[in-house]
Amino acid sequence: MRFTVAIDGPAAAGKGTIARLVAAEFGFAHLDTGLLYRAVGRKALEIGRGVIDPVQAAKIAEALADTDINRDDLRTARVAQAASKVAVLPDVRAALLQFQRDFAQRNGGAILDGRDIGTVICPQAEVKLFVTASDQVRANRRLVELRVGAPELALETVARDLKQRDIRDASRDAAPMVAADDALVLDTTEMTIEAAVAAAITAVNKRL
Ligand code: CDP
Repeated sequence: MRFTVAIDGPAAAGKGTIARLVAAEFGFAHLDTGLLYRAVGRKALEIGRGVIDPVQAAKIAEALADTDINRDDLRTARVAQAASKVAVLPDVRAALLQFQRDFAQRNGGAILDGRDIGTVICPQAEVKLFVTASDQVRANRRLVELRVGAPELALETVARDLKQRDIRDASRDAAPMVAADDALVLDTTEMTIEAAVAAAITAVNKRL
């Protein structure tokens, strides 16, 4: 059985949590596509000693391996910024496209979360969700996650990272972050994660 769920939305809106729980409910495979961009960004920073070279970034994307994606140091704000900088590069996006499309078509169902899944990667997805929340709520949620490894982190620092990335992600020419016309928009500002997951499960059940 092939069945694709596409989840897009701005940084720290809850896409990953919803995707994981919906994947578990239906036994679908889950791909956090942000990790691909984070892995490219991290490696580009390392090779360029803090400076991202676009040609190098495309080469890294073409040769990306599981070991790059499975690293445990990809969740920092520094790597997130690097991810959104390499994500504006059409050659980087092109290099990552087929892997994501193949994943979406795997037998047993797949759920992918990112920025362009419902618009560019899987325009034919059976279910499309665009998950969002207010700037303040998203910054608070991300602060809680990041404080585990960085107890001193300030809310303003997190909010600045999210805002910069949202602006860059939404204004780029290549696959900008935008809700697909046929996406169900879930604003989780005043919604519990359980309620958001329940809404997503209902949307999937309607199409199964
Ligand atoms: O977890 P969070 O929502 O903060 O970010 P992420 O999903 O890990 O994505 C990190 C960055 O990768 C984003 O800010 C985007 O610039 C980029 N990205 C993208 O351009 N397209 C995707 N499908 C996924 C991520």
